[in-house]
Parts: sequence; structure tokens; C-alpha cells
Amino acid sequence: NLVVLRRRDALREKVREWKQQGFSVGLVPTMGALHEGHLSLVAKALQETDRVVATLFINPKQFNSAADLAAYPRTEDDDAAMLKAAGAHCLYVPDGDQIYPPGFATNISVSGVSEGLCGAFRPGHFDGVATIVAKLFLQSEADKAFFGEKDFQQLQVVRRMAQDLDIAVQIFGCPTVREADGLAMSSRNRRLSAKERAMAAVLPETLFAASNAIEAGESIPAVLHAARDKILAGGFKSVEYLELRDAATLTPITDELVRPARLLVAGFLGAVRLIDNVQVTPN
Ligand code: PAJ
Repeated sequence: NLVVLRRRDALREKVREWKQQGFSVGLVPTMGALHEGHLSLVAKALQETDRVVATLFINPKQFNSAADLAAYPRTEDDDAAMLKAAGAHCLYVPDGDQIYPPGFATNISVSGVSEGLCGAFRPGHFDGVATIVAKLFLQSEADKAFFGEKDFQQLQVVRRMAQDLDIAVQIFGCPTVREADGLAMSSRNRRLSAKERAMAAVLPETLFAASNAIEAGESIPAVLHAARDKILAGGFKSVEYLELRDAATLTPITDELVRPARLLVAGFLGAVRLIDNVQVTPN
């Protein structure tokens, strides 16, 4: 049975009650508009912990424009039904003042891993993410927390933040869930026209092919250049970045593949910004 809570004191009380009963607690932070990708995190959390709390908060601080925030889908009733069916125990939907009370003045800014990639194109975005996720960790006192590799840079920012602030939560990165044609599931996909949706698969197809080519020893700059051209030829309006990075530190890799790496991309298909990434493994 899914308990819906809107006050942080109620969440704390619930979690403390569970912990007193000897249960471990898992946290799955979301902004709602749930799909199979989110539910895969809930499924993993149910494997790893005894009680699972999903959170739904559309965090204004991490949006770059008021229009993007206003356009974000709001589907709490559907989200609650999906979480209940998936077996989550609690949905925390904090009222605004539970996260940003009047006078709120603190910002958590993670340097290094948050620079470049999405950080270069979305100023302030990862400060917003680090701040809200830190608050959700502290409000919930969860033992474990679950994030998708879909947002790979976010996952690294959250890991760094929790480590640096001594927050005793174990962070799990979970594989990207994809549609049948390979497109990574995202709440933004529903904004694509039918024609754009049909073209979108060029993004994962190109990433996987480029990953294979780099693993086979082809020149990294040449592969990246050809992949960018292929994405643009496939109908994308622009490619913000397409880069190979160290999978753990996110430092750029331009010459030789010696450690596990990640190939990350962001681009616009019409008005919709899509991101994706795949692993690249040295032999
Ligand atoms: P949101 O975009 O709702 O995503 C919530 C979680 O679901 C994130 O950890 C994200 O990586 C994961 N996710 C999204 N699509 C996925 C997919 N196709 N496969 C696997 N996991 C997927 O990311 C956020 O919200 C916010 O930034 C948040 C962390 C909640 C902070 O506000």
C-alpha cells in the first residue's frame, strides 16, 4: 500500500518507524511523469532495500527557463498509480515550502564533474540538482539511493556531493531503459512530433556504432567527427556536445582509450533537447 506524504516531518517519522522495525530504506528521486525508466529504479530499490520511498518534486532551481519549467508534465495521479503497482511503499511529494522555505539561501555547487557537457549548456542546473538531492537525502535519511545512468553526469555529481558532504547514503547507478528502437526513455520524448520521434533513434544508433568503432581501435577524433555528422544528417537541428569522457572522473579522453569511458551526447531534435550516453570499454 502506497503512503503519500507531503511534509518532511511526516517522512522522517515514517522512515524512523521503519528503521526501528529493522527495515532498510531506499530512495528514488524523480520529477514525476513516470515511465519504465523510473520504474526500473523502483524495481532495483525493492531488490536492495526493504522499504522504498519515491519522491516527486519538480525542482524550479534546476530549470534554465521559466517556459521549460511551465511545460514540464504534471501527472501526480498517474505517477502514484504506477508507483503503487510497482510496489513502492511511500511517495513523498513535498509542498514547496518543505524544500525552499522563505529565506532559503543555501546553494550546493559541485565543481569538476559538473563542468562541461550539460554543465556548459545549462548554467546553474547541477547546483539545482545537487541542492535538491542533498535535501532529499537529509530529509529521508535513506540508506540507499537509486539514479539512472541516462543522466550520467548527474549521477557523478550526486556521488561527489554525497561523498564530500559525508552523507551516509549508498548510491546506485542503474542502466538506461530504452524504447524498442533504442531511444532512451524520457519524459521529453512525448514532446516529439511523430516525424521527429521516428528520426530520434539515430541518436542511440550512432552512439552504439561509435562506441564499437572506438573499442575496435579507430581514431577517437575521427569517430566523433563522423558521428556528429551522422546525427545532423539524421535530422537533428544541432549537437551541443558529443564527447568521450573518463567514466569515473568525467575528464576528457581525446587520444587513447585506457580506462572505462563514456560517450555522451546532447542535441536538439526540433525544439526538444535530447541527451544520451553509452559505455566504451578498453580491451
Ligand atoms: P527525472 O528526470 O524525473 O529522473 C529521475 C530518475 O530517473 C533519474 O535518476 C534519472 O536518471 C532516471 N531515469 C530517467 N530516464 C531513465 C531511463 N530511460 N532509464 C533509466 N533511468 C532513467 O533526474 C531527475 O528527475 C532530477 O534531476 C532529480 C534527480 C529528481 C532531482 O530533481
